[in-house]
Amino acid sequence: MLKTETQLAIVMVLGLSALALLPGRSFGGMEPADGALGGDAERGALLYDSRCIGCHSLGANRIGPRHDDVFGREVGSLDDYDYSPALKQSRLLWDAESLDRWLADPEGFLPGQRMNFMVEVPEDRRDLIAFLMRTAQGRSQGSGQGSDRPGDSTSGG
Ligand code: HEC
Repeated sequence: MLKTETQLAIVMVLGLSALALLPGRSFGGMEPADGALGGDAERGALLYDSRCIGCHSLGANRIGPRHDDVFGREVGSLDDYDYSPALKQSRLLWDAESLDRWLADPEGFLPGQRMNFMVEVPEDRRDLIAFLMRTAQGRSQGSGQGSDRPGDSTSGG
């Protein structure tokens, strides 16, 4: 049996090695200045596929609620998902700030919640949020395509 601390350590080590493998990182300390958030949605998509997809998907509720329009959605507001009272009673909106606080420490943000997962690294949270934001925007502006798959490999340089 692994203790929670050990699991966390493993998650962090996996996260770090994933970081080293992911494309699109600049190691010179330069940050792209696109938008207030500046997150890398492409990298966020990869992180989403590796970390969130075990419990979530974009288009359907699973262990956790679906995410295709979560950015800008009211916290705990899907009718067809059985939220904890902590989320259901919240009147917050999911925006960059609330998502960052949630992913950094769900229990600290909304005590009594049921998501047993956190994202320790600030850049990872930022990129994940950029991905969720882009997904929600693509959905509202999009041309009504039914199934978008976030895991498509981009082979560009
Ligand atoms: C171990 C399973 C699990 C993993 C992994 C997980 N989640 Fe969750 N998530 C949940 C559950 C369960 C809930 C519902 C919590 C509740 O009702 O208290 C939830 C809720 C959420 C919500 C609130 C949605 C809403 O409709 O209000 C967001 C946002 C979210 N998760 C984002 C993420 C992101 C991003 C990741 C990946 C970094 C992730 N989750 C990974 C289980 C998980």
